[in-house]
Amino acid sequence: MAKAGILGSAVVGQTLARGFKRHGYEVRIASRTPEKLAAFAKESGIDAGTFADVAAWADLLVLAVHGGGALAAMTLAGADHVRGKLVIDATNPISDKPPVEGVVQFFTGPNQSLLEELQGAFPEARFVKAFNSVGAARMVNPEFPGGPPTMFYCGNDARAKAEVARILEQFGWEGADMGTAVAGRAIEPLCQLWCIPGFLRNSWTHAFKVLWS
Ligand SMILES: NC(=O)c1ccc[n+]([C@@H]2O[C@H](COP(=O)([O-])OP(=O)(O)OC[C@H]3O[C@@H](n4cnc5c(N)ncnc54)[C@H](OP(=O)(O)O)[C@@H]3O)[C@@H](O)[C@H]2O)c1
Repeated sequence: MAKAGILGSAVVGQTLARGFKRHGYEVRIASRTPEKLAAFAKESGIDAGTFADVAAWADLLVLAVHGGGALAAMTLAGADHVRGKLVIDATNPISDKPPVEGVVQFFTGPNQSLLEELQGAFPEARFVKAFNSVGAARMVNPEFPGGPPTMFYCGNDARAKAEVARILEQFGWEGADMGTAVAGRAIEPLCQLWCIPGFLRNSWTHAFKVLWS
C-alpha cells in the first residue's frame, strides 16, 4: 500500500487525507502541533505527526499549507526526507492583504510562482502543482452535471506527473498536463479566478472544465 503523507492540518489537508485513505492509500497527516489533530485522527483513523516524521515515513507527499508558510513547512519536513519523492503542491501564494473587488492578492509577481520557488529550494523533491484551483469541498470525486471537471497540473518530472495523472483520475478529475514548473505562473492564478464568484456572490461550488476539440 502506498504511503501518502499530508503536510497540512486544515481543511485541504484533512480533505485530501480522507481522499487518499478512501482510495486505498496508507495516510498520515502533519502539523507543527499534531496534538491539535487528536479528534480528527480518532474520527478518521488517520494518524497525525510532525512535518519531519510524516515526510520521513511517506512515499509521496501533499503540501497543503498556507502559501506564506510553504517554504518553512518544507524546511521542517526536511530536505533529506523529501529527496526523490513526489510532492503534490496544492498551495497558493495568497498574501495577507484583503481581496480587491473579489480578487485575492498574491505575494508573487506575474512571471513567478510559488511552485518554482519551492522546486528551486528543494531541487531533489519532485514537485507537481495540482488541486490548487478548486475549493476543498469539491477536491475528491466531485459530482457535476457536466461530468468530470479539469484539474490543471504541471511539474518538471515526467514520472511524478504520470503518478499525479493516475491520482487525479482516481479522484474523479480530467487531468490536464500544462508542462514544466514554469506553468505554475499560469496555474496558481486560477485560484484568483476561482475565488471571484465566491467573494462577489458567495458561490463556492464550481470547478473549471476545458472543452477540447
Ligand atoms: N481552502 C481551500 O478550499 C483551498 C483550495 C485550494 C487550495 N488551497 C490552498 O491550500 C493550502 C492550504 O489551505 P487551507 O485552507 O487548508 O489551510 P491554511 O489555513 O491556508 O493553512 C493551514 C496550514 O498551514 C500551516 N502553516 C501555516 N504557516 C506555517 C508556517 N510558517 N510553517 C509551517 N506550516 C505553516 C499550518 O500548520 P500547523 O498545522 O502547524 O498550524 C496548517 O497546516 C493554501 O496554500 C491554500 O491557498 C486552499
